[in-house]
Order: sequence, then C-alpha cells, then structure tokens
Amino acid sequence: MSLTSDPNWWRQAVVYQIYPRSFADANGDGLGDLAGVTSRADYLADLGIDAVWLSPFYPSELADGGYDVADYRNVDPRLGTLADFDEMTSALHERGIRVIVDIVPNHTSRHHEWFRAALAAGPGSPERERYIFRDGRGPNGSEPPTDWRAMFGGSQWERVEDGQWYLHTFAPEQPDLNWANPEVREDFLRTLRFWADRGVDGYRVDVAHSLTKDLSEPLPSWEELEAMPWDGTHPIWDRDEVQEVYAEWRKVFNEYDPPRVAVAEAWVESERVPRYANEGSLGQAFNFDLLRANFDAGAFRRIIDHNLTLATRSGSSSTWVLSNHDVIRHATRYGLPDAVSDDRGGYIVNPGAEWVKSRGSEPQLDRERGLRRARAASLLLLALPGCAYLYEGEELGLHEVCEIDADERQDPTFFRSEGVDYGRDGCRVPLPWKSEGVSLGFGEAPAHLPQPEWFADFSVEREEAEEDSTLTLYRRALSARRAWQGAEELRWIETGCDDVLAFARPGGWVSVTNFSAVDVPVSELGEEVARALGRAHLASREMRPDVVAAETTVWCAPGEDS
Ligand code: BGC
Repeated sequence: MSLTSDPNWWRQAVVYQIYPRSFADANGDGLGDLAGVTSRADYLADLGIDAVWLSPFYPSELADGGYDVADYRNVDPRLGTLADFDEMTSALHERGIRVIVDIVPNHTSRHHEWFRAALAAGPGSPERERYIFRDGRGPNGSEPPTDWRAMFGGSQWERVEDGQWYLHTFAPEQPDLNWANPEVREDFLRTLRFWADRGVDGYRVDVAHSLTKDLSEPLPSWEELEAMPWDGTHPIWDRDEVQEVYAEWRKVFNEYDPPRVAVAEAWVESERVPRYANEGSLGQAFNFDLLRANFDAGAFRRIIDHNLTLATRSGSSSTWVLSNHDVIRHATRYGLPDAVSDDRGGYIVNPGAEWVKSRGSEPQLDRERGLRRARAASLLLLALPGCAYLYEGEELGLHEVCEIDADERQDPTFFRSEGVDYGRDGCRVPLPWKSEGVSLGFGEAPAHLPQPEWFADFSVEREEAEEDSTLTLYRRALSARRAWQGAEELRWIETGCDDVLAFARPGGWVSVTNFSAVDVPVSELGEEVARALGRAHLASREMRPDVVAAETTVWCAPGEDS
C-alpha cells in the first residue's frame, strides 16, 4: 500500500505514538532504536494505523527521556543514524504509514551547542540572548531572579559559574530558548525543512503553548504568576504572540505537497485550543479531556460534544487520546476508584498517583475491570469523528508498571521531587513482543526499564494467537473503522438510560457503550438502538443478543434502513 496524495489524510487518521527507546531494540543494547521500528513495520501495518508519531530520537543526555534535545537535526547514536531514519521512513511509507516527528521548541538540552556557546561567551553576549539569562537578587546576586517553581520541581532558575541565572520551565538540563530572538525562529524553520525534506509528513509540537514569554520587570512572584489568567497575556503560558511563530511555521508546511501537518501539545483553556488548531496555525491540537475524565457516560458525552464544537470552530478535526508517555496507562486508571481530575487544566495529570507510589500494594486496583473499561473506551474513541492517537502498548491492554525501584527510575520528576512524584516511567517500560526471553522479545539484552513478569501475559506473540485478545480487538476495530470514513459528524441516539451512550455515524454505523457495572437489557434501550444491536459487528467484550454487557462497547454495522 502506498501513500495517498490526499492533503486531508490526517483528519480522521489513527496515529500510533512510538516512544522509540521502548518500542523495539534491534542492536541489543537494551535501548529501543530506529532499526527496531523498521523491523516492526509489518506489525504496524497489520495493526492498521495511518501514521506513527515518534517521540524524540535526537541526540540527548536523556535528562528528560529525550525531550532535552542536543541537536535537532540528527539521530542519537544509541538509536541509530540518519540513514536508519531514512530506511525507517521508507519502510513505513511503503506500507502506507506516515511519519510524524516530535519538535521540542521551548527548550534545548544544556548540551546543545548554543547553550555551550552561551556559557562560554558570558553575560551580555549575543550567545546568551538565545536563552533567558538574568542576574540574581540579594547579596552578590546569589538568589534566583524570582521564586518561580519548575514543572519538574525545584526553582525555575539555575545559576551558572559566572553568577548569572537561566530560566528552565522544566529540568535544569532543559534551558528555555528566547523566542524573541529572530535567530531562534530562523533555526527552527531550518529544522522543520530538514525533516520535511527527508520525507517526514508532520510534527507533534511539544509544549506548544510556551515558547514566547514576557519577562519584563518587575517580574511577578510565584503566587502572583499562579493567580494570573491564561487569557493570552500570561507572562509564560499561551501568549497570543506565540501564534506569530506558528504562522511562520505554516508557511513552511505549505511549501510541501501535500502540506506538512502538525499537532499542538497545548494544555490551555479549551476555549483557546482552536487558536492552535486553525489552519493558519498548527492545524490540529490535542484534546486531552477524555484522558482526564473518569469512565463515566455523562462526562464522555459532554467532552465529545464540546470538542466537536471546538473542532468546527477551528475548521480542524478533533483529536482523541486516552494514553501517552506522560500519564498512567488507561487500563490502570480505569481500574482505580474514580480519580479527582484536575479541572484547572493542570499539566500532567496522573490520577492514581497515590496508588502507584504505594507500588500497587493497596487493594484498590481492579486490573480486570480496568482492562474491561479500557477496551470499551478505546472502541468508543475509535468510533468518534476525528483523529485517534494511540500510545504504544495500549493495543495490548498493557497496565502501568509500578514495581520499579528508585535506582532504576529515569524520570526527572521522580528525582527532583525526591520521590514525591513517582514519575512517568511506569508507562514507558519496553514492549513485550514474546512471552519468553531476556527482554520478552524487545531485544537481546535486558530492557533499560525492567519489565515485570506479568508483561509476558500481554505479549504480542500471545495476543496474536488469541481470538479475544486486546490486540485482536484493535486490529479488527482499525480495519472496520476504514468503512466509517465520511463526514466528521455523529448523531446521538437517545437510549433512555443515563449509563448507555449510543451514536450513529454517517453511513449507518452505530456505536453503543454501557458504562455501568451491570448488564443492560437491549429491550430497555429504545427501538433504534435495539435494531442496530441486531447488526452487532464487533464488541469490546462477548456479545450477547439480549443485553449490552457491563462496561462494554458494541459496534453495529449499517443496515438496510441506515
Ligand atoms: C512532553 C513531556 C516532556 C515535557 C518537556 C511534554 O509535554 O510530553 O514528556 O517532559 O514536554 O519537554
């Protein structure tokens, strides 16, 4: 299968996120690599996805899993070479799979040549102007310029040898770039073209709502900063002028045929998401609302309606996400008591944090229930109009790994919070491809994050052989979904039952989800749903003619009357 020339290929695509260090290890060093992705191209094609998004694979000291980039136009030697990248891209393209790379524009690694030059050149130099350096306060400037807190804990300022301080929104190893500097803007245009010229189809833009900042004096205190509205004037987040940056990027995207696409990771007020998603800007933005919601019919319906409205407003398609490399896997989230979601739109929301910290020793996790609900939610998500983003391993029904010792952890959030925040390693453990072997088929060496024994039960090898496995469900769903192409619309069908959501898509497919813990008789769901269920095609759990089983989604094929 080759790539189509359709410029709208992305609108209803299924995009599969690969965390390269944890996908497949071809050279046997315990770290996943690009050749590993190439070696699994057939697996990706069989899954039926339209695109992969690769988390960063660039040279990095891995202070933040690769989101600390030392060279934006190269490959980390531990993960391969540019030639390996080209080979991977060709292998995926030959199979009709597009390639999306991660662009990290808010900060570089402290090992980036620009940051090294900034340190060497000293205060007041043009080299320092690419970053955000300030003098400190107090005697000899020994106190940071402000009391601001970094996202990963500790101060947002780090002092350098000559006494100045630099700003880092995340870890100290990730100095923030100065986006008021035209040289910074130019260099990113070069990076975008570099990858587009190598055949990359699109970009995922990391913390797209930061970049431009207003650090004019007097700077507010942390308390003041925290109280400021995110209305386009906040000194750090979601400033209106960040859109000027993306308007320039858009011109570069449109130099290509089909135009390159982008998706913003923008944790902003939902009313402001369309700014990033409209076609003059990045063109699409993540909607993380389902990822933050409990498994609840009312919440799902509100979120779906709201986001479809936002998508209409921006002219983009909506995006749906349940898991990614920053949050607890949804099979585990849904097995915990309902989480209190962070309605303020907090940055990384990990419901179940307390449970993971206790290493899962508390009895409240119901794994079976979590997986049952995860399968139902995933099937519902795949029925929605718009683009679905899947995270590697969710197609196996993988759970979060909580049994990682402190000395094996890698995430800076764990270290910088002295273990208070347990970090994101539990969703980044390398995939189990086989049920046996030193790293369960991931590679020939022990995996860089330890795989627990129970991972073997979720291996690709095992699930490929099972009719009712999660992998089989995803494959069938992705294949059936191709028949759902059509207008990006849905029509709710009233079921008369608060816990059961049903909707029809143009073309006549119907999706029915029972969110409750009890089976619901079909006869109670109204005539239209009952008729549709008579044409049940695929279900997240066993199909029964008389009931929609508890915590289950059923897809119904179009009928004569659809
Ligand atoms: C990425 C994180 C990363 C952070 C800093 C995020 O949005 O998804 O994994 O730690 O940006 O780059």
